[in-house]
Amino acid sequence: MEDAKLLFNGKEYSLPVIEGTECEHGLDISQLRAQSGAITLDSGYGNTGSCKSAITFIDGEKGILHYRGYPIEELARKSNFVEVSFLLIYGHLPSKQELDNFRNQLTYHSLIHEDMKKFFEGFPRTAHPMGVLSAMVASLSAFYPDTDYQTDVNLNVIRLLAKLKTIVAFSYKKSIGQPYIYPQNHLSFTADLIHMLFAVPTEPYEVPKVLEDALDLLLILHADHEQNCSTSTVRMAGSSQANLFATISAGINALWGPLHGGANQEVLEMLENIRQDGSDYQKYINQAKDKKSGFKLMGFGHRVYKNFDPRARILKEAADKGLSQLGVNDPLLDIAKNLERVALEDSFFVERKLYPNVDFYSGIIYRAMNIPTNMFTVMFALGRLPGWIAQWKEMRDDPGTRIYRPRQIYTGKVNQKYIPVEKR
Ligand code: ACO
Repeated sequence: MEDAKLLFNGKEYSLPVIEGTECEHGLDISQLRAQSGAITLDSGYGNTGSCKSAITFIDGEKGILHYRGYPIEELARKSNFVEVSFLLIYGHLPSKQELDNFRNQLTYHSLIHEDMKKFFEGFPRTAHPMGVLSAMVASLSAFYPDTDYQTDVNLNVIRLLAKLKTIVAFSYKKSIGQPYIYPQNHLSFTADLIHMLFAVPTEPYEVPKVLEDALDLLLILHADHEQNCSTSTVRMAGSSQANLFATISAGINALWGPLHGGANQEVLEMLENIRQDGSDYQKYINQAKDKKSGFKLMGFGHRVYKNFDPRARILKEAADKGLSQLGVNDPLLDIAKNLERVALEDSFFVERKLYPNVDFYSGIIYRAMNIPTNMFTVMFALGRLPGWIAQWKEMRDDPGTRIYRPRQIYTGKVNQKYIPVEKR
């Protein structure tokens, strides 16, 4: 394709056009500053591609999501979280032998160092589990240093994938004052997590298949989502060649915010408020439309999707099915469906192309599973881990990677003269 032309300050600059495998186009501005002295300005990065990536493809206008070329709907129906993790990180669906080997490694690395239990003891019971999670992940670097990227990285990737679910479960047990339950090697990855969350040492606990399937689906749907806020944070922190654990810990912190992964907790709290306020959902729709109210319909809208988030579609169906299988009749599901129905017909939401996102229905399923609200974002982090690792590895393995270092347009004061403090 012909280069794009840019006219600036009386000169013409050629910008090569980069085409992706799904035919999306980008203008390569990598030489722009060197040639013209100007930079581009794109607050919030809505028009900026920060990398080329072969991991995840999203078409936000059409509501399409693919991992490594496979549609999310197909993976959700036919695959499982461990296989999807392998696919994202290593780039292909594993052979039977590769999958068995990967699964065994995730099983046999799931214990955490006994000394790490002392860290859990140091946190107050009221600590938000996302804070605990990020601190514990960063602390893994003290036990498993990666002195050499080439030799240590593969093992540390396995360790992190295997141990995160143990850390997740231990932080939950800590928050409710119950004894930690150790991983069980005979259980699947997801069943083991459920066992560590809900079993107690005093009696046997059999993991309900319906819970295992529902949680596995949630983890698959959260596994990657190209260059979102937390993934970009992972690439940004990782570009300094910080170790894997420090890098992922940075991503966990970015995910925590209510505009990103923290939205699932906010959605549930919003639905609960609406219920307690007499289930008058129209009042909340009106508030969301009133900019002065500062209220947003949590779980609605997305930077990239200007159509249904395909994950929300899958989760809406899963919420209906899962709740009836679990025998749960949750009034919040009805409120959520009513909000969605009314919002999708309202011109404010239609004009702005605001649709439910992945967080809108995920919380209702977590709640039906008895996972407490403040653990929702932690479950999201566990699901997103293979995506973060895949994106980090892609960046580190690319010989062309440079440290991420955006520029800025300075708008502050100029030519200030220093005045000694006694004269100010
Ligand atoms: N409720 C009401 N109005 C909204 C909402 C919402 N949930 N989301 C966006 N809008 C409005 C904005 O006020 C804006 O209106 P305007 O054009 O009249 O000024 C317009 O829609 C565009 O929204 P922006 O905020 O500019 O979109 P942006 O891409 O910057 O933000 C975001 C996307 C953060 C997801 C936003 O839609 C939002 O805050 N949603 C609620 C939080 C949420 O659900 N986050 C989870 C996202 S998914 C994830 O991270 C897993």
